[in-house]
Amino acid sequence: MTLFACIIAYLLGSVPNGLLLCRAIWHIDIREYGSCNIGATNVYRTLGKGPGALVFALDFLKGFLAVYIAMLLVGTPLSMVLGGIAAILGHSASVFLRFKGGKGVATGLGVIAMLMPAVTGVVFFAWLVIVLVTRYVSLGSIVGAALVPVLAFFFGCPTEYTVFGVLAAVLVIVRHHTNITRLLNGTESKIKAGHR
Ligand code: G3P
Repeated sequence: MTLFACIIAYLLGSVPNGLLLCRAIWHIDIREYGSCNIGATNVYRTLGKGPGALVFALDFLKGFLAVYIAMLLVGTPLSMVLGGIAAILGHSASVFLRFKGGKGVATGLGVIAMLMPAVTGVVFFAWLVIVLVTRYVSLGSIVGAALVPVLAFFFGCPTEYTVFGVLAAVLVIVRHHTNITRLLNGTESKIKAGHR
């Protein structure tokens, strides 16, 4: 049953909401704009607040639902963590995009919102402060991802959740390698709502 839950989570995570919505509603391939990422940040940067918020909500929901389904089908912390990892992997290496995809931030946030709401609150607050102060969404995402296992540990979450935090942080940070290069050489773009 855990394997079944993971397959559902991976397929759910694989749905490229940003790509599909931008194509269907705004008739663009989001991979040809801005950072070329399919995630909410790039949709916001390219098309503005509404489209960005919509993609964020749908990508968040993928992670949240993946863990919720694992909880209903199996119910153990391990199954929920595996479901969460499968959803983030699906988003980042989508079966529908020849194993390419996004950076896993919104989907990962959905996963931790279901697993550890208190940790999520602190992570989101840290992300918001970093983004408001620096205008670098990627920096907020990287620091936020790194905070998850640390906070999971200090908040006394099940060990599985802390291990999940380490794996998810590695995954998300590795997916930001081009952002990290740009942050280091000062060419990362500061966030601003766009109109294409
Ligand atoms: O959630 C992704 C964000 O951290 C970076 O997005 O488009 O600037 O690469 P982007």
